[in-house]
Amino acid sequence: MSKQFDVIVIGGGPGGYVAAIRAAQLGFSAACIDEWKNDKGGPAPGGTCTNVGCIPSKALLQSSEHFEHAEHSFADHGIGLSNLTINVAKMLGRKDAVVKQNNDGILYLFKKNKVTFFHGRGSFLKAGDAGYDIQVSGAADEVITGKHIIVATGSNARSLPGAAFDEDKILSNDGALRIGAVPDTLGVIGSGVIGLEMGSVWRRLGSEVTVLEGLPTFLGAVDQQIAKEAHKAFTKQGLMIELGVKIDKVTAGKSSVTITYTNAKGAACKLEVDKLIVSIGRVPNTIGLNAEAVGLKLDERGAITVDDDCRTNLPNVWAVGDVVRGPMLAHKAEEEGVAVAERIAGQHPHVNFNTVPWVIYTSPEIAWVGQTEQQLKAEGREFKAGTFPFLANGRARAMGDTTGMVKMLADAKTDEILGVHIVGPFASELIAEAVVAMEFKASAEDIARICHAHPSLSESTKEAALAVDKRTLNF
Ligand code: FAD
Ligand code: NAI
Repeated sequence: MSKQFDVIVIGGGPGGYVAAIRAAQLGFSAACIDEWKNDKGGPAPGGTCTNVGCIPSKALLQSSEHFEHAEHSFADHGIGLSNLTINVAKMLGRKDAVVKQNNDGILYLFKKNKVTFFHGRGSFLKAGDAGYDIQVSGAADEVITGKHIIVATGSNARSLPGAAFDEDKILSNDGALRIGAVPDTLGVIGSGVIGLEMGSVWRRLGSEVTVLEGLPTFLGAVDQQIAKEAHKAFTKQGLMIELGVKIDKVTAGKSSVTITYTNAKGAACKLEVDKLIVSIGRVPNTIGLNAEAVGLKLDERGAITVDDDCRTNLPNVWAVGDVVRGPMLAHKAEEEGVAVAERIAGQHPHVNFNTVPWVIYTSPEIAWVGQTEQQLKAEGREFKAGTFPFLANGRARAMGDTTGMVKMLADAKTDEILGVHIVGPFASELIAEAVVAMEFKASAEDIARICHAHPSLSESTKEAALAVDKRTLNF
């Protein structure tokens, strides 16, 4: 007889591993199957996020930011340096060590919470009286049975037609995190989150980076006042961003890649670069899941169809994270994973998509929650806006990092906060206050009346709240 579990999670990324841990905390027998292998063929749970996404990209962003500070801003502090060098192999080694710490941390958490881990691929075999039979193929081949199945198989990078990833010259996020030497020239197709983060890493280290974006608007989903400020900062740093282009052809040669494209004015252009990162979005991953065996329904994008509660078309089969609709973010995947485990336990959790924060970890960082000014205008909702520049913030001046602003949008009548948008230092940390405020349906006045530490960047959030009522104290 096969091993029986109350809950089997297929996929050990942030959606899956967290769902398995929460299920175990709730008293269920829980298993998690994940196929990711480290360079020695061993298990590397944590998914895209841990292995080729959030964690390694932030490790390289940190290293390259140190380098840029050493090169450009240490002198302002009276710190002299000569013969500054970057050892790319060491930087990549540090990044790999950070990834491994996270992989090992998840294996430890599985043990601590009594989650049974299977290293291999999980695929549906059939539905029966005891639940769903799942084939595990990997280090050991076996069939396990689960009353509830949570699918958390994530996503893969989308390639450009006719330009498959070779991870040597045409790079997905995977190759972009493993470039062995600073390329003289780097092309990036897509000025979204990955394009800007990875483009920043290699620009800081000395590459000449050109970003080609299909849409005519820079960061169209971001509040446009914030996006314009960010565009100005990136351009000043030397990132070359061309908007409104149409990519015609990508050809990988022996030592370079040639991109022919039509620019926004309709002119035929050619760009030759040492390496090319293609970051034009991601596609849900159901490869090898054998969804057909049980009739699991996918939508036209290949995502698993789910309702608001992450229920699929099959009884007791759930799906969370990048493989379903909604933003492809690790924290969104985690919230869904926890919520599903709690629903299986009969609880009534709720994931509020309107308060899922977004962060782009460039310098300046960009972070936001809630609605943008352009969305509110399109809805015809009356609102008040308050902004406060970091230039007028004492801590930002002391840090020497005064680019950007905090912008708060509040309902014109009730003063409820509808959105907060930040471009500037530590926006990724500052946004947490805005998320809490919005979860508790705070008004701008609530934030304006709260005592914020001085000197701190968070005073800019308070001042933006005061600005909503046209009464900033420091600007
Ligand atoms: P994944 O993390 O993709 O995990 C899915 C797992 O399932 C993988 O380990 C896969 O091997 C496994 N799997 C798939 N099929 C099977 C199967 N049949 N059997 C067994 N195992 C299987 N998000 C943020 O919130 N913040 C960031 O800073 C951020 N940075 C990013 C940077 C980059 C470069 C990239 C590419 C993404 C980034 N993301 C970030 C997005 C984030 O990584 C994803 O939203 C998140 O990983 C989704 O989690 P998931 O659990 O749904 O899927
Ligand atoms: P993205 O959706 O952020 O950006 C893709 C960009 O490529 C868009 O601006 C789009 O207009 C452009 N594009 C699409 N097709 C094109 C074409 N043919 N030619 C030129 N431009 C084209 O996708 P990206 O950067 O690949 O990242 C995928 C996802 O991973 C993100 O949406 C996000 O969910 C997640 N992520 C999150 C991070 C974070 O939270 N800090 C960091 C990195 C990734």
